[in-house]
Amino acid sequence: VKDALGRVQAVLVLGGGSDIARATLHRLLDDGPLTAILAAREPERLETEDLTARGATVACVAFDAAEPATHAGVIESAFANGDVDVVLVAFGVLGSQTELEADPDALVELVRTNVVGGYSALAHSVARLRTQGHGTVVLLSSIAGRRARRSNYAYGSTKAAVDELAQGIQLSLAGESVRLIIVRPGFVHSKMTEGLRPAPFATTPADVAEAIVRSLRENVSVVWVPPVLRAVSAVLRMLPTRALQRL
Ligand SMILES: NC(=O)c1ccc[n+]([C@@H]2O[C@H](COP(=O)([O-])OP(=O)(O)OC[C@H]3O[C@@H](n4cnc5c(N)ncnc54)[C@H](OP(=O)(O)O)[C@@H]3O)[C@@H](O)[C@H]2O)c1
Repeated sequence: VKDALGRVQAVLVLGGGSDIARATLHRLLDDGPLTAILAAREPERLETEDLTARGATVACVAFDAAEPATHAGVIESAFANGDVDVVLVAFGVLGSQTELEADPDALVELVRTNVVGGYSALAHSVARLRTQGHGTVVLLSSIAGRRARRSNYAYGSTKAAVDELAQGIQLSLAGESVRLIIVRPGFVHSKMTEGLRPAPFATTPADVAEAIVRSLRENVSVVWVPPVLRAVSAVLRMLPTRALQRL
C-alpha cells in the first residue's frame, strides 16, 4: 500500500529487464524504500545489485509475455506477500521492419508478444488490482502507435492495438480506485534502440522514469515523453499518406 505520503511501496514489473523499468525503479527509490517484483523470461539472468544496494527488496519471477495462459498465475504470485501499488507493463519487442516484411511468421510472433501478451497482461493486471481495491497499471505504449511510419509500422501497429485497449479500460475504470496510465514515449536510448539512429526529440530511460513518477502523483491518464510529442503526434495523424511517404 502507498504510505502516508502517497509513496509507492511495491511494484510489479512485467518485462523485468527493461531499461525504462529499471530507471523507473531507481527514480522511485529516490523517494524511499521499495519492493520490486521483476517478472522476466530469464529471471535468473536479471541483475539486481544496483537495486538492493539502494535498499530495495527484490524478487525475480519467470514470465513470458508470449504465454498468456501463465499470466494470471504469475501476477497472482506477485501479490502473495502483500499489496502491489503499481504494475508496470514494460515488455515489448521492436523487431526489424525489413525482416518482419520478409517473414510473416516473425510478424505473428511479434503480435503474440506485443499484442496478445499486452492484452493479457493489461486485463489480468487490472482484474487483480480491482480485487485488491486499489493500485495503478502503467502501460509503456509509444508514439509509434499513433500513425504508421515506413520504418517501424509493424511494431507501431502492435503498440496501437494495446494503446487502444488501454484507452477503453481507462473508460471502464471511471469512478474506481484503480487507475491505468498510458505512457507514450518517442525514441528512448535503451537496449531496444541500440545501434539505431535517434529520432528527433530522443530521450533517456531516466526522462521517461521522471515522467512516470510524476504521473503517479498527478491525475493524468496519458503521458507523452517529451511532452512536445503530443503536438507532433497530432500533426502526424493529420498528414495525408502521400506526405508521409515523402518524409
Ligand atoms: N526504447 C524506446 O525507444 C521506446 C519508445 C517507446 C516505447 N517503448 C516501450 O517501452 C517498453 C520498454 O522498452 P525499453 O526501451 O525499456 O526496452 P528494453 O530495455 O529492450 O526492454 C524491453 C523488455 O521486454 C522484454 N521482453 C521481450 N519479449 C518478452 C517476452 N516474450 N516476455 C517477457 N519479456 C519480454 C525484454 O526481455 P528480455 O531481456 O528477455 O529480452 C526486455 O527486458 C516497451 O514496451 C517498448 O515498446 C520503448
